[in-house]
Amino acid sequence: MSFSRPSPYHRRFLLMCGIVGFIGKRAAKPVLIDGLKRLEYRGYDSAGLAVRTDRGFDVVKTTGRVASLARLAGAREIAGTLGISHTRWATHGGVSEANAHPHVSSDGKIALVHNGVIENYADIRRFLTGKGYTFSSETDTEALCNLIAYHYAKEPEPAGNNGSGNGGSRFFTAVRKTLRHVEGTYGIVAICADCPDEMIGARKGSPLILGVGKDEFIIASDVSAIVTHTSNVVYLNDDELVHVTRDRFRVTTSGEDGVEAKIDTINWKVEDAELGDFPHFMLKEIFDQPRALENAMRGRFSDDGSTAKFGGLNMTPFELRQVDRILFTACGTAWHACLVAEYMIERFARIPVEVEYASEFRYRNAPLDKNTLVFVISQSGETIDTLGALREAKRKGFRTLGITNVVGSTIARESDGGIYQHAGPEIGVASTKAFTSQILIASMLALYFGRMRDMSFSDGVAMVQAFKKTPEYVSRILESADQIQAIARQYAQMKDFLFMGRLSMFPIALEGALKLKEISYIHAEGYPAAEMKHGPIALISPECPSVFFATSGETSQKVIANIQEVKARKGPVILVRSEACDVPDGLADDT
Ligand code: M6R
Repeated sequence: MSFSRPSPYHRRFLLMCGIVGFIGKRAAKPVLIDGLKRLEYRGYDSAGLAVRTDRGFDVVKTTGRVASLARLAGAREIAGTLGISHTRWATHGGVSEANAHPHVSSDGKIALVHNGVIENYADIRRFLTGKGYTFSSETDTEALCNLIAYHYAKEPEPAGNNGSGNGGSRFFTAVRKTLRHVEGTYGIVAICADCPDEMIGARKGSPLILGVGKDEFIIASDVSAIVTHTSNVVYLNDDELVHVTRDRFRVTTSGEDGVEAKIDTINWKVEDAELGDFPHFMLKEIFDQPRALENAMRGRFSDDGSTAKFGGLNMTPFELRQVDRILFTACGTAWHACLVAEYMIERFARIPVEVEYASEFRYRNAPLDKNTLVFVISQSGETIDTLGALREAKRKGFRTLGITNVVGSTIARESDGGIYQHAGPEIGVASTKAFTSQILIASMLALYFGRMRDMSFSDGVAMVQAFKKTPEYVSRILESADQIQAIARQYAQMKDFLFMGRLSMFPIALEGALKLKEISYIHAEGYPAAEMKHGPIALISPECPSVFFATSGETSQKVIANIQEVKARKGPVILVRSEACDVPDGLADDT
């Protein structure tokens, strides 16, 4: 972990599938189902579990909800204390019971759950078909499962090892050998019908965490499935395997080296992962914004109140002063936060900033100047493309800093330094409080760099004062929730929306459009308001509302002119504006 002092909060990662594995003294079934319920928020289309019993594996799978799985499994006596479960988001093969995980090898020896994509699964499948293995699903995971079974069948039992030792069993060797032949990404948990005391996890590109409880272990793709059982966790790194027996665990690399596993403590309250009185996590997290903003600022202003300070950048003021260009890279909502960073840093610190989609940056071999500082922003700290971009920048020798919410996440560990958001767990798939916390941190960075350069003491003090008011402002907006909801209802049947703003409100417009698409399944586009006349204006009609974001300042009159253009074409206008922005009464339909 490279950010200076780790502190609380862990949460979801950006894979839709969820994994839980359990080994302990109590029955596995309730732990496996409870774990899946805690991962439900990631979205999925089928669910399943497998518990090892004396007869082999007891497997229950279903399409649809975890509640259906719980009903089916509840109706059966499943008594084992070792098992795995999974929520699947279909990638290879449609949504069906056969394609749901866990998969069991055709010889009945291995059960496996898997997140990620096995790219060479067709070759593996062909190879195994030639060896007599059969397939009952269309998934890449089943190929992996059968390949473990193949290596397991070939592997001689080590002398004096009954499979329960921690020094490396035949099952463990089979998993390790299998992974050497696999191309793609995986987070897996495997169990073996012959091995009542063993569970094996491995990761490459998909997060996997081991929870270390009293007399029990839980492996999960997300800490929220672990937190109710233990706060002691080990974050696996890419290319690591964990071999868990009933009383021990051992982490190794795929190259067989032992790894000194560090047990971290999750400083995350169980209530943070509960809904409380809210109907869903997105709403809970929207209302959590004032607290998230407070946390982003806590302890991060200088004693004289004129600048920001960040403990984890791991760069001296001298080094920071040498930076003459900054590259921000991220995906999705976090990419929009990067755009806000660009506006703020260029305006207040006068450092040229470039923003790249991480998915593009990692492949396009952009020429970078030697004094460029690379920032990645990622709420989860696990987004593959963002991680890929970070690694590419590091490979080229650039100093990399991360802004992330999840302590101990891969991005936090692999960057040279960074800033934790401390926004608290963001469980809803749609980024809300993490976004506003990211843009506050980006703005604080603008202040920090600005004060190192030309920004005056009094301008710095004014900016700090303004930042300190943001939680209160957000609370005031949240007090209008009923009014906002009433406006939303009026427009709920519309099929297309435009979102528009200027300068730093342009990324906000992009983010508004993204949220509407993602959450409401309504088509929306974000534009810089002035670009409207270069094409999108053709869409304006009574059936296509425009959402404008307007603040006071040099462009406010221009935004008003844009609104007038929309009104002239009978387009409905919803205006989100600051109090100080002077807009003629009645110009917008809703404000
Ligand atoms: O965890 P990250 O910030 O790296 O996630 C990046 C995007 O996938 C994410 O921001 C996504 O766009 C949001 N969930 C949308 O609401």
